[in-house]
Amino acid sequence: MSAPHSLTFNIEAIRSRVDAGMTVFIEGLALPVHLDDPIRYSLLAPGKRIRPLLAWASAQAAGGEGPECMPAAIAVELIHAFSLVHDDLPALDNDDLRRGRPTLHKHAGEAAAILAGDAMLALAFEAVSSVAPHPAPQIQARLIARLCEGTRAMIVGQVYDTLGGFDDGLDDLQKIQLIHSNKTGALIHASCVMGALTANADPERMDLIGGFARDLGLQFQIMDDLLDITGDPTVVGKALRKDEDADKLTYPVVVGVERSRDIIGSLHSSALEKLDQIGPEANGLRILQELMTSRSY
Ligand code: IPE
Ligand code: IPE
Ligand code: MG
Ligand code: MG
Ligand code: MG
Repeated sequence: MSAPHSLTFNIEAIRSRVDAGMTVFIEGLALPVHLDDPIRYSLLAPGKRIRPLLAWASAQAAGGEGPECMPAAIAVELIHAFSLVHDDLPALDNDDLRRGRPTLHKHAGEAAAILAGDAMLALAFEAVSSVAPHPAPQIQARLIARLCEGTRAMIVGQVYDTLGGFDDGLDDLQKIQLIHSNKTGALIHASCVMGALTANADPERMDLIGGFARDLGLQFQIMDDLLDITGDPTVVGKALRKDEDADKLTYPVVVGVERSRDIIGSLHSSALEKLDQIGPEANGLRILQELMTSRSY
């Protein structure tokens, strides 16, 4: 095993391995064509793969090599792809463009999009249970539990985002924190924690990685809100300037663009502080954190 400081973190190489792993997994299922095609169309479309990358970097930060996270990495990307397909449906955000291409319901119809989303939800759990399960049953059980929690929270966040129904007495900032930490933060948190679990993180590392993930998860969605206002649609690959017309509660709406940027800066510093306490093994997470703070898509 190589010493931690010699670990490499090559984003393109990891993305290729994850895409290859997802392709082999889907191929092995021999699904009917009307499920196979839509799943490949959405899952393998050119996204950032930030959640698998975070799982990989978190495994390294926990003292592992990275590749051991592959079943978890495939699982979180499947949940993410499912969430995007359903998020774009007419009943939710009604979007026509995703990852620079027509959304799945535009490409293959609503029935295919609903069913492919349903299938990817199930396949995520199949991936984490049957693609190289962790040898320690207790860790394997925790991996599944974390994936359940992250998925449930994502859906809870989507419910608040789409349907409201907040407890009485919450102000807009509390509501938006609740939406963002659930709809986006929770799956980012699950990605990191699951990656760390695959490398048998000790409790102290796990706390630091989990804390890092909470900061990054909130920061990530605030940036998504900002990109909706300030981003270049040809770069972002989805329709922008939509949140305001859709009456979405977003950080820029609640606190303004400048304050949103300040909050991103504070979360960025807070996330990096946790990584400093880990040391050089957190290099991959550091690279991803910097990328997510300066991202234009
Ligand atoms: C978009 O996620 C939806 C949010 C949770 C903000 P990403 O920005 O990670 O989308 P892809 O995977 O790169 O397309
Ligand atoms: C979606 O948030 C979060 C998900 C759980 C998919 P958004 O609705 O803001 O994401 P985009 O902007 O469509 O990617
Ligand atoms: Mg949405
Ligand atoms: Mg949306
Ligand atoms: Mg958005």
